[in-house]
Amino acid sequence: MKIKNICCIGAGYVGGPTMAVIAQKCPKVKVTVVDINEQRIQLWNDPDVNNIPVYEPGLSEIVEEARGRNLFFSTDVEKAIDEADMIFISVNTPTKTYGIGKGMAADLKWIELCARQIAEVSKSDKIVIEKSTLPVRTAAALKDILDSTGNGVKFQILSNPEFLAEGTAVEDLRNPDRVLIGGDIDSEEGREAMDALVNIYASWVPKEKILTTNVWSSELSKLTANAFLAQRVSSINAISELCEKTGADVNEVAKAVGMDSRVGPKFLKASVGFGGSCFQKDILNLVYIARSFNLQEVADYWEQVIIMNDHQKRRFAANMVRTMYNTVADKKIAILGWAFKKDTNDTRESAAIYVADYLLNEQAEILVYDPKVTAEQIYSDLDYLGSRSNDANRQAVTVVNDPMQACKGAHAIAVLTEWDEFRQLDWQEVYDNMLKPAFLFDGRRLLRPDTKREIGFEFYAIGN
Ligand code: NAD
Ligand code: UDX
Repeated sequence: MKIKNICCIGAGYVGGPTMAVIAQKCPKVKVTVVDINEQRIQLWNDPDVNNIPVYEPGLSEIVEEARGRNLFFSTDVEKAIDEADMIFISVNTPTKTYGIGKGMAADLKWIELCARQIAEVSKSDKIVIEKSTLPVRTAAALKDILDSTGNGVKFQILSNPEFLAEGTAVEDLRNPDRVLIGGDIDSEEGREAMDALVNIYASWVPKEKILTTNVWSSELSKLTANAFLAQRVSSINAISELCEKTGADVNEVAKAVGMDSRVGPKFLKASVGFGGSCFQKDILNLVYIARSFNLQEVADYWEQVIIMNDHQKRRFAANMVRTMYNTVADKKIAILGWAFKKDTNDTRESAAIYVADYLLNEQAEILVYDPKVTAEQIYSDLDYLGSRSNDANRQAVTVVNDPMQACKGAHAIAVLTEWDEFRQLDWQEVYDNMLKPAFLFDGRRLLRPDTKREIGFEFYAIGN
């Protein structure tokens, strides 16, 4: 089957970059990305390509090349569904905030809405692809809904989870470790649908990196991959606390352990805690699924990864307060970095939000600088926690667009995102403009301790 028209529902951090790369690599396929969020679509269509709503290195160049040629962004969801022979569902699947499974299960209401709309609008056979991260066996529910209209239209459902990491999305999409496609391998129609998707990716991904599996393995592999990655971060963060008590250095331990080829060096960087829209949500979901099958030990095992991560964020903030003579009330604290990692403007579940909230509860005055995150986003992240009134957040937190301004007159600085530019700051000048003793807390192991201590900083780093 030759695919001519692709529709992607959801123009977010996954839908946008993924479809941009597909459009670039398959110039003969028309790719339309749709979203109900009008403002988001407007930004994707902004004549100034620097204003697209997702910041990723290299993305604006691809959008510039493909947009208007074979890449389109639109709010006309129905038209795009109707025209497409292949539909990616890439909508958000956050943790439920209400009802059964509140705080654990994935909220599938947007997924279900998509399925109902596809069922309603479709007049010709379609391949429907789960791009969103979903609980294992969601494809069965999708199939039920899609087949319920009884109008003779046939749907093939595939699972094609996305493994890109934010900040390196373009590189990850161009050069993936693997592409995973789950489908109905037992039927000819299923295999045909899988081949159609394999052929799209084979335009640029070597065939041996494209794995085909049954749907359930594909769905579960995605949750498992994120759980394994997050587990490595929590493991090294657990060791970082022990390092701080014993005089071992977590970077040296990570290097020594990671050089074992069975362990490998990646994802062993101690930090103030992992953030991002995926790790916590996907592990909670895995825990919820395990509990729902009564697999208590399995659930508890994975839940510990989250418990450790919450502890790491809290202990970093608590250590700041303790170090500063047990009070930060009315003290000025500069937070450098608000994004959950460098090279993205995404702040979902960022450790910075929780550290700031802790310090605000201690009545600190906070100044924030992040090169890519807007003041509006920072306030909205704090407001969302509901720890104090929106006004109180605006009174206690000032967002600035110059790191020097954030640090001027501060009692302490906390580095919470590993933006490269923080290494290059004139740290002597920063020090000169701070109150003394000048406290510097590095939540990312970004800065060299020796040079900072030489300048005169009271310097603390995770795991050091
Ligand atoms: P996102 O919130 O950035 O984007 C989702 C978009 O879907 C939003 O713009 C929303 O308006 C839109 N949407 C929701 N319901 C819709 C509907 N019925 N019709 C049209 N549009 C609708 O989310 P994201 O980060 O792109 O994540 C999407 C999925 O991909 C999630 O399941 C996530 O777990 C998974 N995922 C995310 C990442 C990542 O790094 N962000 C990586 C891999 C997988
Ligand atoms: C993750 C997965 O890596 C990706 O495959 C999946 O598709 C989506 O979820 P993402 O959350 O975008 O990607 O970024 P990632 O690089 O995994 O970082 C997640 C968090 O862990 C960040 O806050 C990062 O700073 C932190 N981290 C990562 C560490 O603290 N130490 C590490 O060694 C690695």
